Amino acid sequence: MRRIDSETVRHILDTANIVDVVSDFVSLKRRGANYVGLCPFHNERTPSFSVSPARGICKCFSCGKGGSPVNFIMELEQMSFNEALRYLANKYHIEIKEHEISDEERQQESERESMWAVNDFALRHFEENLTTHPDGKAIGLAYFRERGINDAMVARFHLGYALERTNALYEAATAKGFDERFLVDTGLCIRNERGQVYDRFKGRVIYPVHSISGKVVAFGGRTLRSDKQTAKYVNSPESAIYHKSSQLYGLYQAKRAIVERGKCILVEGYMDVISMHQSGVENVVASSGTSLTDGQIRLIHRFAENVTVIYDSDAAGIKASLRGIDMLLAEGLNVKVLLLPEGEDPDSFAQHNSSDEVEKYIAENETDFIRFKTHILLDEAADDPIRRADVINDILRSIALIPDLVKRQVYIAECSRSLGIREEALGLQLQRIAAKKAEDESVKIQRRQTLESLNQKPAEDENAGPAFLKEYERRVLRYIVKYALCEFCDIDNGSGKFEPMTVLDYVRAEMQRDGLAFSNPLHVRVMEMVEETAETWPQNRKEVETRLEVERKKKLDEAYADLRSQQLGVSAINAREAQILAQCDESYRAALDHAALDYVSRTLCSSPDDEVRRLSTELSIDRYHLSKVHTKHTKVESERESLIRLVPRAISELKGAILEMMIHDLQTRLRENPDAGNDVELLREMMRLTALRSEFARNLGERTITPRHI
Ligand code: CTP
Ligand code: MN
Repeated sequence: MRRIDSETVRHILDTANIVDVVSDFVSLKRRGANYVGLCPFHNERTPSFSVSPARGICKCFSCGKGGSPVNFIMELEQMSFNEALRYLANKYHIEIKEHEISDEERQQESERESMWAVNDFALRHFEENLTTHPDGKAIGLAYFRERGINDAMVARFHLGYALERTNALYEAATAKGFDERFLVDTGLCIRNERGQVYDRFKGRVIYPVHSISGKVVAFGGRTLRSDKQTAKYVNSPESAIYHKSSQLYGLYQAKRAIVERGKCILVEGYMDVISMHQSGVENVVASSGTSLTDGQIRLIHRFAENVTVIYDSDAAGIKASLRGIDMLLAEGLNVKVLLLPEGEDPDSFAQHNSSDEVEKYIAENETDFIRFKTHILLDEAADDPIRRADVINDILRSIALIPDLVKRQVYIAECSRSLGIREEALGLQLQRIAAKKAEDESVKIQRRQTLESLNQKPAEDENAGPAFLKEYERRVLRYIVKYALCEFCDIDNGSGKFEPMTVLDYVRAEMQRDGLAFSNPLHVRVMEMVEETAETWPQNRKEVETRLEVERKKKLDEAYADLRSQQLGVSAINAREAQILAQCDESYRAALDHAALDYVSRTLCSSPDDEVRRLSTELSIDRYHLSKVHTKHTKVESERESLIRLVPRAISELKGAILEMMIHDLQTRLRENPDAGNDVELLREMMRLTALRSEFARNLGERTITPRHI
């Protein structure tokens, strides 16, 4: 295993120029300070894709995709972070310094990497069994052949076979020096109460599960017996590297096709995915038999806007999965469904038909989900007016989930036609449903906050902190990510002398003063990374200064030489020289200032941590700065110039929100517990908080810091 050295990573990130990188894929035109072009992530006729050389990022204002150079390449080429780095290094002829991981380092490798390594070994072990071991060939490979799977698919999905022997994998892996611990942690082996360790998969064909970046995170093993006592599938358990609810089988092999077609086809099982691929339909993934989760849905949305769900045609199965489809709608995806002919599943259908026939069948039979649902539910309700009313409400509930207003309108219009009910009536009912939903949700949030205030773990805790605070925290975080090192105000150092203060220092001090921290774990992580990055700035600043100094000197020399070649008098030369010097100094200062300002946001927007990178990019991308409309004549005060007002306001609002929440919690406790009224402590706390609130209201907006003396 080889790893890119961190200096090389830094060098690549510093060198990559967003305009350059994007220009390899998109033809760009200059517009004001930015460039625009047709978005490579979706089909469009008028350009919404904007590139900001100043911020080093790009963004499509129509589909929302974009980011730093690494992000752009990752997204467009469906590469991992490391692959994208290698791509950029190659483009800029940067020599990649990397090192082989030594034995000591191997020991220090994180748990997760060891687990990936042992899974990788197991994958090759199972694969070898299938293709070269006499039993594997006679049993496993013969099985796949019988099911019509060709060698190309066996190779592409790394299908394998686990021998029908007690400990074949365990022995092979430990002989190679793999630690028993990781065999157990990955679930490849099981340790029983007596401490004996044995293989989980035996005498089964193996379907490896890959993560998006191609790491092997789990295995599914299918029995070849047909007796009822043997479980049909045995799967890897949840582990540090495998969270079933956020994986989709086949995504690694399908992602390119999904992006190209802008559509993801959803099926149930391993064989469905493989047979569809074999027939040439490659944008297919499987939820692996369980109902869809939020994590899986978001995963799909990262790659496409459109989803087609394929069903075998039994009605019970269809009704059971309607809820899963509602979740797809709520995510904002365009959902279609496809019914297969009686008695077929995607696997058999793809095996029985040519790839042209499969494509044609999909194109002709996929139906818009709302239309589909209306149809099957209405059929069922027949002429019973009450059941019809229920059906209509059910459909309106689905429509209410769609985030896009225009799409909702279109559906209302269509339902009005097919149901024979006036649009206004449907619209009104839709509003009622939406209002009811909003109310239910706010009750849910309140309940959760109350639970949290009582220090109980809420039932569906995804550890996200109070949803209510999220927006306020984000607003503060946005200024930190964008302007961390920007000196935006002067602060009295206590002796009447003013010192410059950065946005990061200010926010940190304000939060510490009241003992506050972000409640959302991702926000905490971003804040930590900002702090870490800010600490490395002084070192980096020196390098930037050296580079700028060289540039400045070169410019000066050139200008002086140019001056000398002209026929000028001494005093004119002296005057020109002073002018040139001042200009060069000024551009040096501006460049250094710019580098400081961008350092944190650039680093975070290229973070290897997917979530941190995504959020930072989202926060850094500035609708105003990247806006297509360039206001030449009106001078709009830039955000940077307004930080003096904006940052303190964002902090105050966050504090105010926290205060509101605490008061609310206390009120709920007082209301829900009749004895609490006698609890002096509780009442005293209530008085303290309400006093704080009125004090807060008085101070809100009052300026406590001084603008920069520039
Ligand atoms: N599945 C599972 N564990 C089970 C049953 C099913 O993980 N005990 C998942 C597998 O991903 C499987 C999918 O659910 O592929 C669909 O299950 P099923 O229809 O029973 O299997 P098929 O994929 O159709 O398998 P085959 O065609 O080989 O019978
Ligand atoms: Mn099947």
